[in-house]
Amino acid sequence: MATRTEPGAQEFVPAHPGSLDELRAAAGGCRGCHLYRDATQTVFGAGPVRPAVVLVGEQPGDVEDRRGAPFVGPAGKVLDRALAEAGLARADTYLTNAVKHFKHRDTGKRRIHQTPTRTEVVSCLPWLTAELELLRPRFVVALGGTAVKALLGPSATISAVRGQLLPWPAAAHHPADFPHADGWFAATIHPSAVLRAEDRDALYQGLVEDLALVARALGDV
Ligand code: URA
Ligand code: SF4
Repeated sequence: MATRTEPGAQEFVPAHPGSLDELRAAAGGCRGCHLYRDATQTVFGAGPVRPAVVLVGEQPGDVEDRRGAPFVGPAGKVLDRALAEAGLARADTYLTNAVKHFKHRDTGKRRIHQTPTRTEVVSCLPWLTAELELLRPRFVVALGGTAVKALLGPSATISAVRGQLLPWPAAAHHPADFPHADGWFAATIHPSAVLRAEDRDALYQGLVEDLALVARALGDV
């Protein structure tokens, strides 16, 4: 159960991490909240060390939890296709999640995704903050509501910010957490929303259009 007595990730984050690998290794031992207990492993971000774009999802899914890498399951396939269609190379983007352990309930037959609570997101946020501070991308892109709220604050919504580029870190909930950042923020839907939707094509096109906005700006700046 999420309780206020949980320590949060901060005490597990190295004070002055020299590299992503150092951060990733430390995250492997995180016990900042209870979510590590039912998960297989920490799923940290992955990608180039100098990415132009960092994409932030919600949390690893069932496949990611087993394989230990972000966006390698069904939602990752949708994302790959949308990135390619938008003109962004997955190899140039760093992929990560707001929460690094898979929150789920086990029916005995299946492990069913559960949305992390605000408390769990806040517990895990020091990892994402540390990643973004090391990576300093030109574009931070939130995929879905959990990532939008993690980065912009609890009252932010996708619909209020999608379709625009916001200055980053000025748009962040706590800009002071990102003293070295200088870039842009964009938001779109989570690729798994496409899989759940009745009107898959419309949602997919929206995802591609939002990513294309970033791709165009990347060409411009
Ligand atoms: N959904 C996410 O938000 N992240 C993943 O890594 C996989 C599915
Ligand atoms: Fe640590 Fe985040 Fe995993 Fe909780 S979800 S144990 S804060 S890495």
